[in-house]
Amino acid sequence: MSSGLKQRVRSLSASMPPTPLMPLHDERLDLFAKLEFSNFSGSAKDRSALWILRQAILRDQVTENSVLVESSSGNFAIALASFCASLGLRFVPVIDPNVNRPTENFLRTISTRVDKVHDLDDTGGYLKSRLRRVQQLRAELADCYWPNQYANVDGADAHYRLTGAELCDTLDRVDYLFVGVGTGGTIAGLSRRLKEAYPYLRVIAVDVAGSVIFGGAPGRRRIPGIGSSIVPPLLERALIDDVMVVSEAESIAGCNLLWRRHGIFAGGSSGSVYAAIRRHFADYRGPRPRVVFLCADRGNAYADTVYNPQWVAETYPERADNVLISSPAPV
Ligand SMILES: Cc1ncc(COP(=O)(O)O)c(C=O)c1O
Repeated sequence: MSSGLKQRVRSLSASMPPTPLMPLHDERLDLFAKLEFSNFSGSAKDRSALWILRQAILRDQVTENSVLVESSSGNFAIALASFCASLGLRFVPVIDPNVNRPTENFLRTISTRVDKVHDLDDTGGYLKSRLRRVQQLRAELADCYWPNQYANVDGADAHYRLTGAELCDTLDRVDYLFVGVGTGGTIAGLSRRLKEAYPYLRVIAVDVAGSVIFGGAPGRRRIPGIGSSIVPPLLERALIDDVMVVSEAESIAGCNLLWRRHGIFAGGSSGSVYAAIRRHFADYRGPRPRVVFLCADRGNAYADTVYNPQWVAETYPERADNVLISSPAPV
């Protein structure tokens, strides 16, 4: 019976077009942004969601009768919800109060049901609470499949086979790859694929203050997508040369700069990575290196936070002037 489902997921994954690679004007760098927000459901998470789903269906771990359950603060849930809907599968995302309103509304519309946790965990985040709830649901629901995006190697494989292959097909040389880290899937897959093609490539992992991924102290984080309150197992597979940690104020300034200078209205992780690139090359005066980064999602879902001057001024009062880039004169 699931041969129809296998056929559908195969043709769905084969029909996804590559995302654009946009050259950005920069004084010192040959800078390229891979616009992952051009994916079907709007983020880089399409890559891992579809590949994980595809492999689980092909291995008979997911059938027409399965219910998928996953903990996600946004993009992975949106991607899974979209692909599950297109394949006729049931899906229950487990979310938390950090999920922004448009994302929650979308998930409530398209998913079978939404489960929301409200208890902060011992690190001040919600991840551990969400994961506890996932385990409860797995025990309660029959034929339940948990993709486990933090440890599923198919999530990293997606970026090795898809995103990474697209970059290698397009560019004959890459000197630096900057990647924001959440589950570690993107950096694990991309670093492996790109280092095979470009042996001199340097891979820079970008994390945010308050995340524990690279041994930092846990702290309050307000920008979803980047950083984590656990060390994700997928990170072991990543080939990382250097780590940069940016503050949330820097991430917001990076988002504004990306928007004002290049017209790219992107989410918090893209701004974090762009801020890291600018800091890394601030004093650089050598030959132009070729630098690649991903814009993992669009800025629309951050309109109430990152792009809202009032929210920024209230949330980072001591830094607001550095964070907000002034607008052109009103007409
Ligand atoms: C917007 C955004 N950027 C970056 C990441 C990090 O990617 P990864 O989880 O593969 O490390 C995520 C992950 O959810 C994300 O949603």
